Amino acid sequence: MAILVTGGAGYIGSHTVVELQNAGYDVVVMDNLSNANEKVLARVEAITGKKVPFYKADIRNRQELEEIFTKEKIDSVIHFAGLKAVGESVEKPWEYYDNNITGTLTLVDVMRKHNCKNIIFSSSATVYGNPAFIPITEECPKGQCTNPYGWTKSMLEQVLTDIQFADKEWNVVLLRYFNPIGAHKSGTIGENPNGIPNNLMPYITQVAVGRLPKLNVFGNDYDTHDGTGVRDYIHVVDLANGHVKALKKLEPGSGLSIYNLGTGVGYSVLDIVKNFEEANGIKIPYEIQPRRAGDIATCYSSADKAEKELGWKAAYGIREMCEDSWRWQSQNPNGYED
Ligand code: NAD
Ligand code: WQD
Repeated sequence: MAILVTGGAGYIGSHTVVELQNAGYDVVVMDNLSNANEKVLARVEAITGKKVPFYKADIRNRQELEEIFTKEKIDSVIHFAGLKAVGESVEKPWEYYDNNITGTLTLVDVMRKHNCKNIIFSSSATVYGNPAFIPITEECPKGQCTNPYGWTKSMLEQVLTDIQFADKEWNVVLLRYFNPIGAHKSGTIGENPNGIPNNLMPYITQVAVGRLPKLNVFGNDYDTHDGTGVRDYIHVVDLANGHVKALKKLEPGSGLSIYNLGTGVGYSVLDIVKNFEEANGIKIPYEIQPRRAGDIATCYSSADKAEKELGWKAAYGIREMCEDSWRWQSQNPNGYED
């Protein structure tokens, strides 16, 4: 039996395929390549020494999904496929609701027709909105999202919760990721954003590699230790391993499970700049700019529940996150285009 990884050619998906194969699982990848390059799959194969069966397919396309579920023996799905650019989702809400929500509804419908009722869903700390308390535990109430992307995650959590409530054969794991950064130690796979990066670490690495002149720091007047925004950065390989551990919550009768995947530690924007500079010996010029709309001051997890129930804990610290992000970017200055 195999695990279907939707969005498996993307940033987190590709790293998860590596860890799944290393742990001995059979994996099938599907991706429509809307935000990925097929070259990543050969690189994953080079890391693991195993073939990655791949379908170029869209989660909104019932026929394409039917083909996969008919040809392959899938017993669980790890569902990464989705659009994720916060700003773009404000400009194109219909496209985000269609891709993420229609796509997931179609996927889940085809799954149940094939009696595959085990799913791990990529959710996000964004569902907490401006969190009611810090560190954020899974009991923290969900909040108001500030953009359509965030709402798709919040709504899909509800959809999957209701489906599992109605049919107890479903086992659903909602994983709320904090801020994934870093890359595989080989430096051969990593984050490869289209255009100018929205997220902090890829922006920093593109400054470091000379593609961008300086970092814009969005606000230094937050109520944090140095005034800049504080986040819970997590190494993408730790995040990937969190999925491997979460598979045990797909055992029959597990029901619905929700976990934060974070480190439990918060770093400010300037902490990240300093750590990156020290880890890699590269100066990152920056300029303070006004706050970015929709940002909150502080967001970091309590990672206790995942440790207690899954036996999962982040292993990598901020220095390795900075080193590994840079190894990927410096070896691949233009991402997969090189
Ligand atoms: P990514 O864009 O690198 O990966 C998503 C993959 O899904 C891409 O390869 C894309 O081509 C594919 N895809 C998109 N729509 C599809 C569709 N309709 N059919 C088939 N494939 C489709 O993003 P990522 O950073 O690897 O994120 C993976 C998941 O984790 C996403 O659901 C994202 O929302 C979620 N997430 C990401 C972060 C983050 O900061 N990176 C944080 C929290 C949650
Ligand atoms: C981190 C910090 C910025 C860029 C986003 C999504 C969230 C989740 C993860 C998917 C903030 C500051 C950033 C820059 C900066 N994704 N910053 N200059 O906003 O915490 O989370 O990605 O689910 O939903 O909202 O991450 O990396 O964009 O920002 O100063 O050029 O860095 O203001 O304080 P964020 P980020």
